Amino acid sequence: MKLLVNIDHVATLRNARSEDFPDPTEAAIICEKAGAAGIVFHLREDRRHIKDADVYKLKKAVKGLLDFEMGATDEMLSICTDIKPHLCTLVPEKREEITTEGGLNVGMIFDDYKTRVLPKLKEAGVPVSLFVEPSVKDMELCAELGVPVVELHTGTFANATGDDIKKELKRLKEAAERANSLGIQVNAGHGLNFNNIRPFLDHVPYVDEISIGHALIADAVFRGLPTTVGEMCEIINSYN
Ligand code: PXP
Repeated sequence: MKLLVNIDHVATLRNARSEDFPDPTEAAIICEKAGAAGIVFHLREDRRHIKDADVYKLKKAVKGLLDFEMGATDEMLSICTDIKPHLCTLVPEKREEITTEGGLNVGMIFDDYKTRVLPKLKEAGVPVSLFVEPSVKDMELCAELGVPVVELHTGTFANATGDDIKKELKRLKEAAERANSLGIQVNAGHGLNFNNIRPFLDHVPYVDEISIGHALIADAVFRGLPTTVGEMCEIINSYN
C-alpha cells in the first residue's frame, strides 16, 4: 500500500498572492523525501490551482509515481498523453464545484469513454484509473470497459456520522472485493485524514494507492507554524 500526496492546495496558496511561492513542485520533492510513494495533481479546466507549467515541472522533478487527475476533455487528454504520467485518474469535473464532488457516473460515460477517451490514453501508453463510487455494479462496468485501476471515492465515508459510517465502510469493502476479483487495482481517496484512515484501512481490503491532499497540507500548516513563527520571533526579538 502506498501514499500519494495531492499537492493542489500548495498551488492554491501560491495563487492567492500571484507569487511564485510556495511552489507545488518543491512541496512534491519534500513529500517524496518524507516517504510518499508519489504525487497527485489535478489540472482543472479553470486552472484554479495547478497550472500547465507546474505539470511539466512536476513531471521532471517527481521520482516516484505521478498521478495526473483530470476531467476527460480533449484538451486534458492532449496534455496528459504528452506528459505520460504513471497513471491518469479521470474524474467528473464541474466548474462551479469547490472540490470533486463524487465519482463518475460510469453508466453515463460508458460509450464516450469507450470510443473517445480510453483509446487515446491506451495509444499513448498511459494507464487509466476511473474515480468511482464504491458500487459493485460500477466495478463490473469498469471491468467491461477494460479499465485496469479504479479509485474508490471515500468522501461519503469521510463525511458520514453514526451508523452511516459502518454502512459506507461496508460499501467500500464490497466494491474493493469485487474490483479485486475482476483483476482491477483498487486505489482510494477523498476526505481521508488522521481520524478516519485507520477505520478505513481496518475494513477495506486490497487498497493499493491512497491519495490524500487537503488534510495533509492543512496539518502541515499547523505543525509547521511553531517552527516558522519561532524563527521570525528570534530575528525580530534580536533587535529589541
Ligand atoms: N482523489 C480524487 C479523485 C480527488 O479529486 C481528490 C481531491 O482533489 C483527492 C483524491 C484528495 O482528496 P482530499 O484533498 O480530500 O484528500
